[in-house]
Amino acid sequence: MKYIFHLGRIPALSLAEIQAVFEKMKIDYTVDLIDSRFLILDIEDKIDFEELLPQVGGVIKIAKIIDNYKNLDDALEKTAFIIEDLNQKKSGKKIIGYSIYFTLNTDKNKVFEISENIKKKFIEIKKLCPKNSSIRIIFPDKNLEIKSVSVFKNKMIKKGGEFNFMFLNAPHPNPLPQGEGVILSKTIAVQDIESYSQRDYNRPKKDVKIGMMPPKLAQIMINLAQVRKGATILDPFCGIGTILQEALLNDYRVVGSDANGEQIVSSKENLKWLETKYVLEYPDYKIFQADTKSITKKIKQNSIDAIVTESTLGPVYKKVPSKIEIRHNYNLFIKMYTSFFQIAKSILRKKGRLVITIPAYKMKDGKFITAPFIDRLEKIGYSIVSPLSKEFLTEDIEITDRNSIIYYRQNQIVAREVFVFENK
Ligand SMILES: C[S@@+](CC[C@H](N)C(=O)[O-])C[C@H]1O[C@@H](n2cnc3c(N)ncnc32)[C@H](O)[C@@H]1O
Repeated sequence: MKYIFHLGRIPALSLAEIQAVFEKMKIDYTVDLIDSRFLILDIEDKIDFEELLPQVGGVIKIAKIIDNYKNLDDALEKTAFIIEDLNQKKSGKKIIGYSIYFTLNTDKNKVFEISENIKKKFIEIKKLCPKNSSIRIIFPDKNLEIKSVSVFKNKMIKKGGEFNFMFLNAPHPNPLPQGEGVILSKTIAVQDIESYSQRDYNRPKKDVKIGMMPPKLAQIMINLAQVRKGATILDPFCGIGTILQEALLNDYRVVGSDANGEQIVSSKENLKWLETKYVLEYPDYKIFQADTKSITKKIKQNSIDAIVTESTLGPVYKKVPSKIEIRHNYNLFIKMYTSFFQIAKSILRKKGRLVITIPAYKMKDGKFITAPFIDRLEKIGYSIVSPLSKEFLTEDIEITDRNSIIYYRQNQIVAREVFVFENK
């Protein structure tokens, strides 16, 4: 079966996460197509994607390919047939809809003509629907997509379906659509975006500073650590506990520490709240106040399976700082990171991963200035794991020369460089 994975805002991170999760689950696949928005995989194993998706922060939606068609009419005929079948098999109200995806440079007139044709067909399908059966159609927004939140809230997957029409001619060694073809797919799982924002904004303690760790990024980093369920994950700069909460939700044992006592109180309060909202597999987490310099007093040698963390990102900027200021920041960071990496080495088990974000600065020309001390950290006894295998590295996918991935938002100057280190 072929599946389309709709990637998140930083496609390299989404792909790295999918690769890490599938490797851990021992799922075999062949890659059919990758561009900056989609990954198409051929997978033989039966997978419960609805169960999998909430555990994968970098995938917005998964659709199962019905078929590829040479022209739109054939794809629409097939859609009508599927909906008719649904009408016969399913009683009660049905909710159906569609999204359309084009390559980014598709001619505007063509886009208009195609979207009008699809719209007409869906209206016709509704008209032809038998009197005793009711169908509601959800039309796409101006971006020609039904928002994931709407697919989720309307329970479209259960109550009918979202059909996706994809007009892709993406270059790839093994292009899926022939010529101008259309890929027809049906959504089988969609991200519950509201649950992420609930965990971000509705918990008792929030961090109002710009640049707080988003739960989705925390989840991606946890997946990049690639440890089995039940393993112990440590965040030694736990702050208000975002990484801890996501690790608990993904069935890991959790240890958290922070030098700041107030942050420890916040973390505890947030995790208590989490327990009221979710059933946790390992609710006996450990959280304590400690500077990283002294955590070995509380954590045994080689007892941690993975460290997933983010330390202080330094000052927040509204204007791009000078190169001298950036150098000054990095000089302040070097000592903290080298001392932390040395300590981490003793508590992390051999081959265990240390997934960490290190600040990078986005300059006016869009390029990034990144930390100059990474080789020093490697020399302590770590190697950097390449987060993407060769088959995932196409020209659309941005990854640095030193195998890190930069996570940033459009208007942020301080970005995060995500690294996966392995304890040698
Ligand atoms: C960006 S926040 C961490 C965000 C957190 N990882 C999360 O998931 O929400 C950085 C934290 O590092 C802590 N910190 C800074 N230096 C530290 C040190 N030397 N030892 C322990 N904690 C430290 C700060 O108190 C702060 O709470």
